[in-house]
Amino acid sequence: MRERIARLREDAVAALEAAERPEDVEQLRVQYLGRKGKVTELLRGMGSVPPEERPHVGQLVNALREELETLIGRRKETLAAAALEARLKEETIDVTLPGRGPVLGRRHPLTLVLDDIKKVFIGLGFTVVEGPEVETDWYNFEALNIPPDHPARDMQDTFFITDDILLRTQTSPVQIRTMSAQEPPVRIIAPGKVFRVDADVTHSPMFHQVEGLYVDEGVTFSDLKGTLTVLARELLGRRPVRFRPSYFPFTEPSAEMDIECIMCHGAGCRVCGNEGWLEILGAGMVHPQVLLNVGYDPERWTGFAFGMGIERIAMLRYGIDDIRLFFDNDLRFLRQF
Ligand code: DAH
Repeated sequence: MRERIARLREDAVAALEAAERPEDVEQLRVQYLGRKGKVTELLRGMGSVPPEERPHVGQLVNALREELETLIGRRKETLAAAALEARLKEETIDVTLPGRGPVLGRRHPLTLVLDDIKKVFIGLGFTVVEGPEVETDWYNFEALNIPPDHPARDMQDTFFITDDILLRTQTSPVQIRTMSAQEPPVRIIAPGKVFRVDADVTHSPMFHQVEGLYVDEGVTFSDLKGTLTVLARELLGRRPVRFRPSYFPFTEPSAEMDIECIMCHGAGCRVCGNEGWLEILGAGMVHPQVLLNVGYDPERWTGFAFGMGIERIAMLRYGIDDIRLFFDNDLRFLRQF
């Protein structure tokens, strides 16, 4: 009997040491100390022990039971501690790592340019107005003194919706809408989308213009020159500008404004086509016929108007050589501004 007890103890201790998981230890507890366990069985076999030895054997079995209870408890604790250790190691976080900050949005380069244009004109007492992108022939062409056979009306340039309705090809119709709705004086700029059947690296079927219009008593061509010179300086820096005679049906006289080439400073290069100058806008004194078309008396009121492409200014300002970049929404491009 003593031998049986000693062997049982050895087996149990060895099995406990080999147990790697808490559930294995629990299984051993049941196996040895449970109601049908091996230690309990020993007590049941007491009948075969001579009566005089029973108290001693009983003591041995109880001592074994206590010892195994202690060992099992310890083994469980050791395994639990090791499991916790392993989990902590696995879930380690390095609190010194830099965090992931929120990604901030930025203003689109076209918005940056437009905001600068607005700043100049709001400072001069102008109001920012908008007009519809879908226009009628009257506002986009007829009232602007663009005759029915004018090449700008060609299907090659204009997106027609019906014979009479089209996507505006310019922001100039906002001049007509504004003057038709109010009496002079008028001081407005009108930014917005315009549409033309055209697409290459410098032309997009949709692009943006800003229209400007100033009508009052005694407005002269020097007002035009002074105002637009200030505008050019704000947008592209202080550099020489020039006004060149040009033609628009809705202005007389008409001019285009050039700025000294920002690449070669007037020496002549690829960007300016060896001219030394870059065209940045069209302008002129509002044609008397246009004033008549909106019910203004051309004997009393005079005004100047201008129109410029926002993409063109942004391309010159930021050195962008493909207009499509503005509309691709590539964050690598947009994050540079
Ligand atoms: N609407 C013209 C264009 O799209 C630009 C323009 C030229 C507007 C002269 C004007 C102006 O108001 O006076 O090419």
